[in-house]
Amino acid sequence: MSKNILIAIAWPYANAEIHVGNITGSYLPGDIVARYHRLKGNNVLMVSGTDSHGTPVTLRADAEGKPVEEVYKAYHDGFLELFQGLGISYDLFTTTHTENHFKVAQSIFQALKDNSFLYTEIRPQWYSPSAGKFLPDRYVEGTCYLCGAEGARSDQCDNCGNVLEPEKLIDPRAKTGDALELRDTEHFYLDLSKLEPDVADFLRERQHYLRDTVLGESLRKIESEGLKPRPITRDLDWGIPVPVEGWEGKCLYVWFEAVIGYLSAAIEWAAANGEPPAWEEWWVNPDAQAFYFIGKDNIFFHTALWPAELMGAGERFIEIFAKETGKTLTLPYDVPANQFMNLEKKKISGSKNWAVWGRDALTRYDPDALRYYLTINMPESRDTDWDWDEFIARNNNELVATWGNLANRVLSFTDRNWDGLVPTPNELRPADEEILASIEAGFTDIGKLIEEVKLRAALNEAMRLAQEVNKYLDAAAPWFEIKTDKDAAGTTLYTALRAIDSLKVLFAPFIPFSSEQLHTYFGYLQPLFGEQYTETRADDLGEHTVLRYRADKACGRWQPSQLEGGQALQEPGPLFKKLEPAVADQERARLEK
Ligand code: MF3
Ligand code: ZN
Repeated sequence: MSKNILIAIAWPYANAEIHVGNITGSYLPGDIVARYHRLKGNNVLMVSGTDSHGTPVTLRADAEGKPVEEVYKAYHDGFLELFQGLGISYDLFTTTHTENHFKVAQSIFQALKDNSFLYTEIRPQWYSPSAGKFLPDRYVEGTCYLCGAEGARSDQCDNCGNVLEPEKLIDPRAKTGDALELRDTEHFYLDLSKLEPDVADFLRERQHYLRDTVLGESLRKIESEGLKPRPITRDLDWGIPVPVEGWEGKCLYVWFEAVIGYLSAAIEWAAANGEPPAWEEWWVNPDAQAFYFIGKDNIFFHTALWPAELMGAGERFIEIFAKETGKTLTLPYDVPANQFMNLEKKKISGSKNWAVWGRDALTRYDPDALRYYLTINMPESRDTDWDWDEFIARNNNELVATWGNLANRVLSFTDRNWDGLVPTPNELRPADEEILASIEAGFTDIGKLIEEVKLRAALNEAMRLAQEVNKYLDAAAPWFEIKTDKDAAGTTLYTALRAIDSLKVLFAPFIPFSSEQLHTYFGYLQPLFGEQYTETRADDLGEHTVLRYRADKACGRWQPSQLEGGQALQEPGPLFKKLEPAVADQERARLEK
């Protein structure tokens, strides 16, 4: 029975390039789990897009002195290039600046309002008389009235992590240098306190499944501090208009609407495929499983705010949007938030150029080399560190020596001595049976680890199995066997080829490019995976290009190889490149420049 799996990945703000910390934090783990489920034959929908609104984006546009439309698009196009180069296989990577997203977000707002989870309140906010407008969140900084830290934003202190009331900020300053005064302004609030029992129950139900780091930031925090109402509108002109008469000039708060992107992107995807109701297979289906891949700084929004929106709006939204009654929206199944990755022992900082940028790294390294290191070092339970020497060592010792050379020497030796055909084996000997049984068990063990989003352990296990095949091969030594008993050597090579053909699948979710390549060396005609491509669409908000994935029809390959003697192999080549140790110093010299 195939399952419906929603892979929901954090939406990057259109204000900065993406670095390795972001990649290992959410995009890559999401892609690995998606590719695994596709190989399993499950019905996967992987969505995300550019988070195009909010003050991070308008601040960036101000800094660059360009219109915000232009700035968001430039970053968006860069994201598409990176994800395609790295093989992050979104079924749809869109943006929040589409008519469809506006409509869906406004409908969720409307449903919450209809269900009485919204109320309005007038509060003072920092206003710039010279600019003639209210200055949002990140435009005003000052000293935190709770912990005394400098540089707190008017709505939040990064030092103590508390949400702040803007009017209490000590010594407030506008980033623009404008003089400030407090003025009253009216906003909609989401009554999270009313939804708190439902959110807490939902988290309690999932508590044996969620990571402890995630529970600490969600359930345990809610149990100790409760959930307070939060304003979900802002005085802004860039964003989604509040769909209420008389509210012109105000927009939905960026976090309120960005999380709705997971739903609107599914709706956009279904419509683009000419099957508008298809989104319901993931969103209005109690058996669907939704995985959210995010960094630790996003936990509250995905474990509290978003479930609250889904529960508060769900039935009513489906009534408004799909004219169906008595149905609810799918809640998260798992939110495997990652910790952070540092770089050479220091916190990654974009502005100081203490970072390894995704697109730039792809100009010098193969995507699988990056994916391998970022998975083996994924910050699943604690912060990890990108270390250039380790990157090179792991590439050379593990990818090249253990896995790549294994595949290469077995394929080349067979190519030379068996005319490029898979040898037809004699009856398998105990050692042959044994290695094939170990590999077969890998499909269950590694599959289980991936389903539990323990990706480091899963990849380590695949590499351990490759090492076992190396040992098997060294013990059987077909290059000597061939001199005395060619059939015995043929049986060894058949066994090794079959093990490698299986390992190719076990490695495929992690390092799909090399697995696809190896798959062609084995002479298969149907590719392992589908294809990524871009598409440009236009609506009343303008043109936007999206990333798509043409799903593979011949899926369901997560199973041990059935390789048969006589299959014609293609001429093999190396799968990975060895890196010179000197590369590490060259890379370190690029930092902070
Ligand atoms: N743009 C946010 C960030 O970069 C993440 C948004 S995830 C979403 O931190 F779900 F809200 F879209
Ligand atoms: Zn503080």
